[in-house]
Amino acid sequence: MDPLSFYTVSIDYDRRLYRQDIAGSVAHARMLSAQGIIEPDEAAGIIEGLRQIQGEIEGGTFLWRPELEDIHMNIEHRLHEIIGDTAGKLHTARSRNDQIALDVRMYAKEVADQAIEGVDDIRSALLSLAEAHSSTVMPGYTHLQRAQPVLFAHHVLAYFEMLTRDRHRLREAWREADVMPLGSGALAGLPYPLDREAVRMDLGFSRVTPNSMDAVSDRDFLVTFHSAAMLCMIHLSRLAEELVIWSSEEFGFVRLADEFTTGSSIMPQKRNPDFAEIARGKTGRALGNLVGLLTTLKGLPLTYNRDLQEDKEGFFDTVDTLLATLAVFAGMLSTMQVDADRMRDAAQGGNMLATDVADYLVAKGVPFRRAHGIVAELTTYASERSRAIHELSLDEYRRFSDHFEEDVLLITVEASIAARDVLGGTSYEQVRGAIEKAKSRMRSDGVSG
Ligand code: ARG
Repeated sequence: MDPLSFYTVSIDYDRRLYRQDIAGSVAHARMLSAQGIIEPDEAAGIIEGLRQIQGEIEGGTFLWRPELEDIHMNIEHRLHEIIGDTAGKLHTARSRNDQIALDVRMYAKEVADQAIEGVDDIRSALLSLAEAHSSTVMPGYTHLQRAQPVLFAHHVLAYFEMLTRDRHRLREAWREADVMPLGSGALAGLPYPLDREAVRMDLGFSRVTPNSMDAVSDRDFLVTFHSAAMLCMIHLSRLAEELVIWSSEEFGFVRLADEFTTGSSIMPQKRNPDFAEIARGKTGRALGNLVGLLTTLKGLPLTYNRDLQEDKEGFFDTVDTLLATLAVFAGMLSTMQVDADRMRDAAQGGNMLATDVADYLVAKGVPFRRAHGIVAELTTYASERSRAIHELSLDEYRRFSDHFEEDVLLITVEASIAARDVLGGTSYEQVRGAIEKAKSRMRSDGVSG
């Protein structure tokens, strides 16, 4: 492409807005005729022509012309070929500035809905994992050091929380896009008796834009979509990182399905978690797209400026990236195998019951700081003998404090988990309750389980 066209031509990417563009034109033509601005038979001809164009685009016979620059001009030009001069009446009381604002808003609503569905698929997959593993124990980590035993379901439900917040943010992005800008014209409104409410209802919007100058230059709703998509990608990237770690031979907590791993061309034993890694990598480009849009908007004077044409490629890229990533995770999570034995074994090691032993002393009246010190000595003693503290005998315990009695030997991973029965904690009871609550949240979000 020559450099001048490279600058101005947007048809290669904005053609994906053809459905929105045609729907907007149909609604506009209907309203123009209802208001007596064009004749009913003119509107009927325009609408019929537009339907034919939609058929041609979907049937792959439409001839895209780069010299006509964008989606609006390509469609209008073709309409002229089909119905002649009447085509010129469609652009009465409209500008490409309010037209593109409409198209992008309609598209944003559609993809926000798709993203919400994708998020819900992952939430369902997470919930199924939690249910299947409501008593699988694993080490909980801080600093990636074994810290305290937790239920695998509790860990999984943490991601359910993140994705539930993502869902709300995507819903917000949808709401922000749900404002109808046609009728703003180039920037100042239009000298015709338009019925903006009729167009709004025809196109399924909740409100009309209240200020024409803002309407043609506002891309905040895209920033909101990018931000929601971005944070969702960040959550999935964190989960991706866990899957990479968990599927390593060192951990062996999960085995990803074949379709989500690849072998190495040189090392036959490898099962690389490529999809998780690529998801982690793609998070960078989603962030780049958000920063790109914000930078485009920075310093733009009112109203429409051609810079705004740069809003689309990054947006479409983030949409494609997010929707694909959501589908990949739904698949990866619902097909992976969890090695509950490996998790349980790992939960037995690493002196993870140290906090419980300290809490035991506290229950016997020892101040927590003092108890902490005693247990620190105990763990050093055990480590020097390559044992975990819960493998020590009562005699050995009593060398460090005579508050230890027979019942210290009852401290187990399971008892440690059961004891954390505070709201939001990892006890069996709490997690069972959390699963039920998560299910009812899914139901109230309209997702059938
Ligand atoms: N292709 C343009 C865009 O994406 C459409 C609006 C063009 N308006 C104009 N006055 N040149 O923003």
